[in-house]
Amino acid sequence: MSKNNRNIQMEKLVSLSKRRGFIFQSSEIYGGLNSCWDYGPLGVELKRNIKDLWWQDMITSRENVVGMDAGILMHPNVWVASGHVANFHDPLIDCKQCKTRFREDKAPTYFKCTNCDFKFKVSNGFVETENQFRSLFTNYPPGRNYPRAIALFEAGIYAEDLSQYKDSDCPHCKALKSVNVEKINCPNCGSPELSNAKQFNLMFKTHFGPSEDSASEVYLRPETAQGIFVNFDNVMTAARGKLPFGIGQIGKAFRNEITTGNFIFRSREFEQMELEFFVKKEESEKWHEYWVQERFNWYKKIGIREDNLRLRPHTHDELAHYARACTDVEYRFAFGWSELEGIADRQTFDLDQHIQASGKKLSYFDSEKNEHIVPAVVESSAGVDRTILTVLTDAYWEDEEHDRVVLRLDPRVAPIKAAVLPLVNRDNMPETARSIFEDVKRNMAALYDAGGSIGRRYRRQDEAGTPFGITVDSQTMEDGTVTLRDRDTLEQIRIPKDNVVGILKEKLAH
Ligand code: GAP
Repeated sequence: MSKNNRNIQMEKLVSLSKRRGFIFQSSEIYGGLNSCWDYGPLGVELKRNIKDLWWQDMITSRENVVGMDAGILMHPNVWVASGHVANFHDPLIDCKQCKTRFREDKAPTYFKCTNCDFKFKVSNGFVETENQFRSLFTNYPPGRNYPRAIALFEAGIYAEDLSQYKDSDCPHCKALKSVNVEKINCPNCGSPELSNAKQFNLMFKTHFGPSEDSASEVYLRPETAQGIFVNFDNVMTAARGKLPFGIGQIGKAFRNEITTGNFIFRSREFEQMELEFFVKKEESEKWHEYWVQERFNWYKKIGIREDNLRLRPHTHDELAHYARACTDVEYRFAFGWSELEGIADRQTFDLDQHIQASGKKLSYFDSEKNEHIVPAVVESSAGVDRTILTVLTDAYWEDEEHDRVVLRLDPRVAPIKAAVLPLVNRDNMPETARSIFEDVKRNMAALYDAGGSIGRRYRRQDEAGTPFGITVDSQTMEDGTVTLRDRDTLEQIRIPKDNVVGILKEKLAH
C-alpha cells in the first residue's frame, strides 16, 4: 500500500470512529487537546470487551495469576528506583532559524558509518534511500543475522526513534556499532542550523498536597508495571503465591509524548494491560517463549488476521542492558508495521532495584533450594488503545459490491451483538420488534432501531460492526418467524421469533 493510501485509510477510520461514536477528539468544542481522545458509546463497549477478554484469558482462567489495581500516584522514589527519572527521556532539538522544537527522529536524518563512510537517510521512521538498501540487502546470504538497519529496512518497520539506527552495525562494511548521525535538517524549514539534542523527561509531574514546591512533586505513572513490583511481597503473601506466579493489572498510564499522531496509536493518556510473571531465574527463557506464543495467539483469538501480525525479536543492540530477551508483537498498521505489545524477559532487574532503594525484602522462599531468591520476571505489556486501533483497522472493509462500509469485528469484541429492527413502523411490527428487543437486551448488548429506511439502518449497523440483525416483517405476523441477517455474508435466514436469544447465543459462542 502506498503511503498516500495508508493516510487515506487512517482518515477514513478516524471519520468512521467519530460518525458512529467510537472515538472523539478530546475537548473538541474548544479546538481539541492534541493527542488525547474520548471514547463514545460504541468505543467504551469495545474497550470494555477487549479489557474483559484480556482479564479473563490472562487472569481469571489461570490458577497461578492474580489481578491487582494500584494507584496512578505513587511515591516519587518508585520512579527513581525504576530508572524512569534518569532514563525516560526523548531527545528534543530546537531549530535556530524558525524556532520550531521537534523530536529528533521527526526530522530528515542522514546517517554515516564512521568506518567506511556509507551514508543513508531516514525520514518519518522509514529509510528513504531505498534503492541503496535494496542492493545491499541482496548481498546478504539468507538466514544471516543482519545488522539492525538492514533488518528494519527488510521488515518495513516504522522506527519510532533514531536510537534504532544510532550506534548500530554498518549495513555496508558491517563494522560494529559504527553508524552515527551525520546531519539533521529542521522538518519545518529544512535548516541544518539546529541546537544539540536536549533530553526531555516524558513523565507528567503534578503536586501532592497544598504546596507547589519541588518537595511535593509526584508523577503520573508512565506504566502500570511498577505498581505490581512494589506490591510484590504484599500480593505474594496475601495470595500465598508459588512460583511461577503472575500478577496482572489494567490501568491508565501517562506520557508527555513529544511526537504524537497516528490517531490513538500514541497518545499522552492511555491504558495498559500488563502481566508480570515471576519465575525462577533459570526458567525465564522457557517462560518467555511461552508468553510470546500465548500473546500472539490472543490477538488471533480476538479476531485479528494472522497475516497482519508478526513477532519481532529485538536484536542484541536494542535490548536494555538488564534484559535477556524481548519480542514485540507487531501489527501492520495503516502507517506500516509497528509495535502492538512487548514481551520482555527482564530478569531480576525491577525487584533488585526496589530492594536496593527501599531496603525491603522482595524475595521468595524457594523450598527446593531452601533459600530466599529474587525471582526473574517475564513481562507482557500491551496497550488497550493500540489494541483498539488494531481491531478497528483489521475490521475495516469497504464492500464495493454492496456499496457499504463494514466493521467486520469479531462478535466477542463487537460493541453491539444484535440490532432489532421493525421493517416498517406499522402493522404491529414495532410492538413485536420491541418485545423481542427487550428479551435480547436482557442477555447481550443490543439495539432497537426504527428510524429511516431498512437499507440505511442495516448500513448503520454494518459500520458499527454489529454482527447480527433481526428484522420483523409482515411474514412475522403470519408465521411467527423473523429474519436473521449476517453482517459479513449478508445471508438472511428465517428463525422463530421465540428462539431469537437461543440462536444468537449459539452463534456468539462460535
Ligand atoms: N512496562 C513496559 C512498558 O511500558 P512500553 O513498550 O513502553 O513498555 C508497552 O509500553 C505498551 O504500551 C506498548 O506496546 C503500547 O501498546 C502501549 N503504549 C506505550 N506508549 C503508548 C502511548 N503513548 N500511547 C498508546 N499506547 C502506548
